[in-house]
Amino acid sequence: MNRTALLGAVGAVGLVIQIVLGFAVAGTAHPTESAILVPHVVIGVAGLALVAYLTLSIFRSASLGTARLVYGLTLLLTLAQVALGYGLILGGGAQGILMAHEGVAVLILILMAAGGMVSARARRMAAQPSQPQTSPS
Ligand code: HEM
Repeated sequence: MNRTALLGAVGAVGLVIQIVLGFAVAGTAHPTESAILVPHVVIGVAGLALVAYLTLSIFRSASLGTARLVYGLTLLLTLAQVALGYGLILGGGAQGILMAHEGVAVLILILMAAGGMVSARARRMAAQPSQPQTSPS
């Protein structure tokens, strides 16, 4: 497993922990004053940095266009998710922002899984010796 794949796996595990923490925060009487909010914000901001790093490495490598699309979208959504999180704190947990924050969390989860599959396929293709070309006669 190379460094990018390892960081991707760390990101995926962190995302699941983050979603569990998010529901734990939302389940408390005063979410914006809850102590669980601290690790939730820290993991959220660290997650954004991790996704930015992964996206940069994908864009700098000769990877498939699909991987670039999936990671680019993941970065945009993670950025939006952090903004929505701050919106929740400032807006005192407004219902609309909460629903958007929950929906974006699920989308990021789906995209991270898709990103893992696409880059695994790209790695497999790069490891295979190129197929002999058959010229049309
Ligand atoms: C990218 C990472 C993040 C993910 C995947 C995530 C996910 C979640 C989820 C699934 C919930 C539960 C939502 C619900 O019950 O409907 C939640 C709640 C919450 N999140 Fe996040 N979150 C992230 C980042 C952040 C950040 C960076 C902040 C703050 C700056 C934040 C602030 C909050 C707050 C305040 C709540 C509770 C809202 C309430 O119940 O009033 N989140 N999060």
